[in-house]
Amino acid sequence: MSNYHIKHLEEYFQVYRKSVREPEKFWEEIAEEHFLWRKKWDSVLQWDFKKPEVKWFEGAKLNITENCIDRHLATRGDKTAILFEPNDPKEPSEHITYRQLYERVNQFANVLKEQGVKKGDRVCIYVPMIPELAISILACARIGAIHSVVFAGFSAKALSTRINDSDCKIVITADGSYRGAKTIDLKGIVDDALEHCPGVSTVLVAKRIQSDINMKAGRDKWLQPLLDAASKEGDAEIMDAEDPLFILYTSGSTGQPKGMVHTTAGYMVYTAYTFKNAFQYRENDVYWCTADIGWITGHSYIVYGPLANGATTVLFEGVPSYPDYGRFWEVVQKHKVTQFYTAPTAIRALAKQGAEIIDNYDLSSLKVLGTVGEPINEEAWHWYNENVGKGKSPIIDTWWQTENGGIMITPIPYVTPTKPTYATLPFIGIQPALMGDNGEELKGNQVEGRLCIKFPWPSIARTIWGDHQRYKDTYFSAYENMYFTGDGALRDEVGYYRITGRVDDVIIVSGHNLGTAPIEDAINEHPAVAESAIVGYPHDIKGSALYGYVTLKDVGETRDHTNLKQEINQLISDRIGPIAKLDKIQFTAGLPKTRSGKIMRRILRKIAERDTSNLGDTSTLLNPECVQDIMDNAQ
Ligand code: WTA
Repeated sequence: MSNYHIKHLEEYFQVYRKSVREPEKFWEEIAEEHFLWRKKWDSVLQWDFKKPEVKWFEGAKLNITENCIDRHLATRGDKTAILFEPNDPKEPSEHITYRQLYERVNQFANVLKEQGVKKGDRVCIYVPMIPELAISILACARIGAIHSVVFAGFSAKALSTRINDSDCKIVITADGSYRGAKTIDLKGIVDDALEHCPGVSTVLVAKRIQSDINMKAGRDKWLQPLLDAASKEGDAEIMDAEDPLFILYTSGSTGQPKGMVHTTAGYMVYTAYTFKNAFQYRENDVYWCTADIGWITGHSYIVYGPLANGATTVLFEGVPSYPDYGRFWEVVQKHKVTQFYTAPTAIRALAKQGAEIIDNYDLSSLKVLGTVGEPINEEAWHWYNENVGKGKSPIIDTWWQTENGGIMITPIPYVTPTKPTYATLPFIGIQPALMGDNGEELKGNQVEGRLCIKFPWPSIARTIWGDHQRYKDTYFSAYENMYFTGDGALRDEVGYYRITGRVDDVIIVSGHNLGTAPIEDAINEHPAVAESAIVGYPHDIKGSALYGYVTLKDVGETRDHTNLKQEINQLISDRIGPIAKLDKIQFTAGLPKTRSGKIMRRILRKIAERDTSNLGDTSTLLNPECVQDIMDNAQ
């Protein structure tokens, strides 16, 4: 029998050891006993981090939607699969049973086929948090099309870049979306984006806000009539284990986003197994992850992981502050949520409102609390623990990345003793390593270094869409035979891990990864700007906020700087999205540079953090005089 459900610490250590000593045997048992295969694999694992190449369950045939839907029909047909909670609490929630999900996914899959979508085609999904988002994802997977979900908060420019990068011919969207008290003209954004996407021939539009929108003849089609006319039955396409399941973009150190490619079998096995254990999921639990499906957290832990376990997963359209800051707790009470998974930035925003509001709600159903996306600070951890968990629901601080597919380092609730701000122990099968400044592995405890992973796990991304070389350069070139995460971490005296933050040019703002390069590119498009540098600085709600140093072309310029700041932020909004706007902008006469012309971000970061006591040696700079000037005028 495989160890599908870990129940105590001794068992964790025992299973962990097995997963490291005999990884193939371990994962083969899990895969064999808990999933539906059309054909079993010929080999469990082939890998080479030098190439790099990773293949799990090669030769196996399956369809992930048969695992997430069909196989539950006999025993869970009337159980709620997706529990949709709308933005407006006055609008009724919707319970979609496994049987209804089966029918709606088939209808959607049949519509996609009718529109000419075939196995291997890429489908762009730019849809808000409504049931059609999850259903369209599953419909793609059902017919073997590769979904590429773009978070519906990205701008037209960001959307078009992603559509073109993966060459999508079809876009699924909605007439608009609700976000708290606001409505957003999603279709308008799609129209703007498609001006730059000659390859897109079809746009399917879901109705959400009933607004009067522009429909381009021949290209744009309302989804509902097509769904109504489509059959509720349909066969799932039989896929190879290593066929791509989806592309999901993440920020990198250059302007072009990285389309991380996840494949079918390994992703399914790992997300399902981590879901079961990291959330200690049991039948009849009501699980709620507040992330947007547009991010990896939503892919793995709203859609695939929960559904593969036959769970009830809440899909929440709204925001924590609408109609007031009690909204999360109202939803927990209403649906008797058992597992609640959110981001530190949301916790900090809620904590700022005080704990009294929570007392109006009954949160006694909660058993497990989770966080993800950025380091959680001590204060937020305790607030969450005391006020939401009432000291009785363990907090799982789950560390992982888009590239990983699933949770990598986390306590297992009721199994691993937690420690504030620590992600604690590696999940089953994960072999972390901390690397020192000279490229050596730091052994033993009480060490701090760069976090790498030594051995493949089933849901590691296999490549970057269209750019395998970049995949190799970004993740497998820093250290030999290691996957490099881009994060720093420490290991304490008992072997617990604490993630200390990014060590590259990615800044995490409110849980969203933002590369500095694309933001700088956007700023530099402004005709008055000569160059710019972005750094992060601590922010009490967002975790990190963005500080921009901008030099103007005409130093003697007398323009109104307030307007200029607005123009710069507008440019960033247009090119990337409002999430990337700068909190502070400082106009400087120059930026500190090395003799080879590289901007010394370390110095700029210290100034933004107001920690100028130890700027290090500035004498080697090309232009040391600018440092004092920047310090004198810091915001
Ligand atoms: C950060 C999100 C500290 C980290 C699933 C990582 C975290 C990046 C944690 C990936 C955590 C995520 N503690 N930092 N528990 N979880 N991060 O790709 O820097 O959106 O590299 O995936 O978020 O973000 P991504």
